Amino acid sequence: MLRWEEPPEGPVLVLLDQTRLPSEEVELVCTDAPALVEAIRSLAVRGAPVLGIAGAYGVALAAARGFDVDEAAQALAGARPTAVNLSVGVRRARDAYHAAVARGEDAGQAAVAALAAARQLHREDAEASARMAEHGLALLDELLPGGGHRILTHCNTGALVSGGDGTAFAVALAAHHQGRLRRLWVDETRPLLQGARLTAYEAARNGMAYTLLTDNAAGSLFAAGEVDAVLIGADRIAADGSVANKVGSYPLAVLARYHHVPFIVVAPVTTVDLDTVDGASIEVEQRPGYEVTEVLAPQVQVSGAGGGIPVAPLGTQAYNPAFDVTPPELVTAIVTEEGAVSPVTAEGLAELCGKAGRARG
Ligand code: MRU
Repeated sequence: MLRWEEPPEGPVLVLLDQTRLPSEEVELVCTDAPALVEAIRSLAVRGAPVLGIAGAYGVALAAARGFDVDEAAQALAGARPTAVNLSVGVRRARDAYHAAVARGEDAGQAAVAALAAARQLHREDAEASARMAEHGLALLDELLPGGGHRILTHCNTGALVSGGDGTAFAVALAAHHQGRLRRLWVDETRPLLQGARLTAYEAARNGMAYTLLTDNAAGSLFAAGEVDAVLIGADRIAADGSVANKVGSYPLAVLARYHHVPFIVVAPVTTVDLDTVDGASIEVEQRPGYEVTEVLAPQVQVSGAGGGIPVAPLGTQAYNPAFDVTPPELVTAIVTEEGAVSPVTAEGLAELCGKAGRARG
């Protein structure tokens, strides 16, 4: 969903513009870090794992084009605050650049080192995605023996957000490939409709049995006994196991608990932030009110007025947090590429992170 290219005019990062989906598949060519910062803010590229990958390539792009790497890294890491993967990816490429400089390499060689770090992260994410799918499916089979899973998901967690098949979506896709997915329930995900525009698009492309619902229809779906498990991704997981994910995730966790349905979070270890102690310490991005007071499909605008169709009186104030935080006691399991932690404890999470660190060397 994103690739590095080196035409004669200089290196570029090419992204599939997610704001145009599902109507059009349009690519966006970023020639420098500011263009990528804008693409991140406008959600042309979005979703935690791919933000990390994009951030790393953004640093490599700045280095390759001779811009100030630290300035670019700071702008990229600050483009969106909640998904920790963004700053992790930026740091990986920036550290690789500085390590090369410290070894006495020239700026050109250091840029190559930054690009190698971005490519490595991209590969690692694809591998992590495959392993999360395996662990997630094994957990589903354990929790729900007999198969025929009916899975509810929120926001978008598929190939659009990953070097591989994604996070939560990758588990549902693995179940589908093994003939064990009865239905994927897709929350539309107001206000920016990542579920309707992106997850439904990915489910349709993969031939999955899926049904779209408005976010507020989820309660009646649970009440009707139609949900076997909830699978979502994460933007940041605090050290205590609190999970920041797309706004609307927390109400699903409450519903799942009430209806005795497993609530499973699937995310790579890079999403776990041991430096953030608890849920209250997670910075939740607040987005412009016009995303709520106007219908913006298909293209999400980021600056100025929305330019969409008004659905509220002019001047209406809107509450528009992009994410919410689910406390660990409502999460049945967190599945990573290193395995699952269930029940969710700080010790269990720290152990998985340690394992991932040792695997990377
Ligand atoms: O605002 P977005 O669209 O970037 O939010 C993305 C989400 O909340 C996803 O559910 C999360 O990043 C998990 S992606 C694998």
